Amino acid sequence: MLNVGIDIGGTKIAGGVVALDGTIIEQLRVPTPVDTGALADAVAAMVGDLASRHEVHAVGVAAAGFIDRTRSVMLHAPNIDWQNAPLRAQFEAQIGRPVTLENDANAAGWGEYRFGAGRGSTDMVMITLGTGVGGAAVGDGSLLIGANGSAAELGHLRFVRGGRPCGCGQNGCLEQYASGRALQREIADIADGGGIGSRLAAHRTAAGIVPGADLKLLLSEQDAGALEAVRRVATALGEACGAFQAVLDPELFVIGGGVAELGEDLLEPTRIAYETSLPGFGERPTARFVTATLGNDAGLVGVADLARLRT
Ligand code: BGC
Ligand code: NA
Ligand code: ZN
Repeated sequence: MLNVGIDIGGTKIAGGVVALDGTIIEQLRVPTPVDTGALADAVAAMVGDLASRHEVHAVGVAAAGFIDRTRSVMLHAPNIDWQNAPLRAQFEAQIGRPVTLENDANAAGWGEYRFGAGRGSTDMVMITLGTGVGGAAVGDGSLLIGANGSAAELGHLRFVRGGRPCGCGQNGCLEQYASGRALQREIADIADGGGIGSRLAAHRTAAGIVPGADLKLLLSEQDAGALEAVRRVATALGEACGAFQAVLDPELFVIGGGVAELGEDLLEPTRIAYETSLPGFGERPTARFVTATLGNDAGLVGVADLARLRT
């Protein structure tokens, strides 16, 4: 049985035909249109294209934002211009078959739980570090959805009282301290400050960012500024995970998204911050921290499987 998963990202839409074991049989990518009508057209074209070559059972679409309990309406999206958008109805009208809508991080978390780094666990939390910070919670083998559909919006935990403004309308959210954008903000702060002996500034592009590969190189050279920027983000992430442990008590944290490509350079300081903020540390079991294994495919693989389960 084959299912289609579509993952709508900020820059591109990835779609794939996924087998029952999570293997991707065929994958397509197109740039994400800004206009919602054009977006629905692009998603429908992709599904139509894939369904013309494969016998497709169910279709799932993953997108960033708060989705209602019926998995139909995008209520609010902190980093995209969607308010109360009936995405499911739009997709179904264009595609001509039932569609499951799911939060992008929930989809990625489910993908990792079923086929990736979370396999074999029962209680897992996934955190995606990209433009935004996404979350997914699997408890006792089920994905937590919430009474209004927006459980596990872990990036919007208030992390700093009176802190930086956030796209969700609040301030001080974890997303403002642990996302890819936040990492670049720390890098810029250190590079501009010039206080720490660092070669960060020399690796900035015209757009003012330090690409991931350059950052990895600087970390391997023990560049003080690079280490400090990553330590700041990892500290926010780890401390928040101490709080998530208090609420959800997972056995495993799976860290994904672009920032997770830093691997152990990110996980090591994250574990330290987690331990220093974990209630009851030393007298309770601690969770393991691993990076995601499905990479950019986690969302489409996860949402294809959720679509299968819901159809
Ligand atoms: C949104 C989440 C999304 C995450 C990652 C956050 O800002 O609130 O719904 O999962 O970004 O895209
Ligand atoms: Na989520
Ligand atoms: Zn927020």
